[in-house]
Amino acid sequence: MSKLKVRYYPDPVLKASNKKITMFDKSVRKLAQDMLDTMYENDGVGLAAPQVGVSKRMMVIDVNAGSEEHPRRPIVFINPVILSQEGEMTGQEGCLSFPGVYFEVRRARKVVVKYQNLNGQELKIEAENNLLCRAIQHEMDHLDGELFIDKAVSAIQRDLEMAKQGLGEGDVIELETQLKEEAGQTINISKSKSMVS
Ligand code: NI
Repeated sequence: MSKLKVRYYPDPVLKASNKKITMFDKSVRKLAQDMLDTMYENDGVGLAAPQVGVSKRMMVIDVNAGSEEHPRRPIVFINPVILSQEGEMTGQEGCLSFPGVYFEVRRARKVVVKYQNLNGQELKIEAENNLLCRAIQHEMDHLDGELFIDKAVSAIQRDLEMAKQGLGEGDVIELETQLKEEAGQTINISKSKSMVS
């Protein structure tokens, strides 16, 4: 078991471009295993290679991570591509590169994705209105150097949660007041379990 160092925002590696994987050798299998170990260790349900400082198009997801009732079900996605997406859903998200920061994020409601497994074999997966659907989109964004802070339903809620963790420029008291005003009008804060990936 080997744990990798998680890179935190604003580490520039999170915004770097990531290379396609073309050789499906031992080193790729080792990276996948190390990423899974690191994800489980940090109580995440997903992790993308740039989050451990590796600029490659690989991500791992296990929506059963941390569950007591369900056995682990890791999926390794190599070179994933979205074939189609439709609809819209919102829900609370976190990110291992932003410890302690959670807010509502807007995503597509359904995605169909093709990817390669550790043998280089091409597979297809479909996910709709569930944690897997959300995690796939969150991790694929990482592979494009995109972060969930750019998909917040409410910029005020995002800035507040960032400020609480000492990130960004915002003032906690001021943002709390603004959020209350906004909440009265539009925002419906979800109480569902957060996803961290
Ligand atoms: Ni993330």
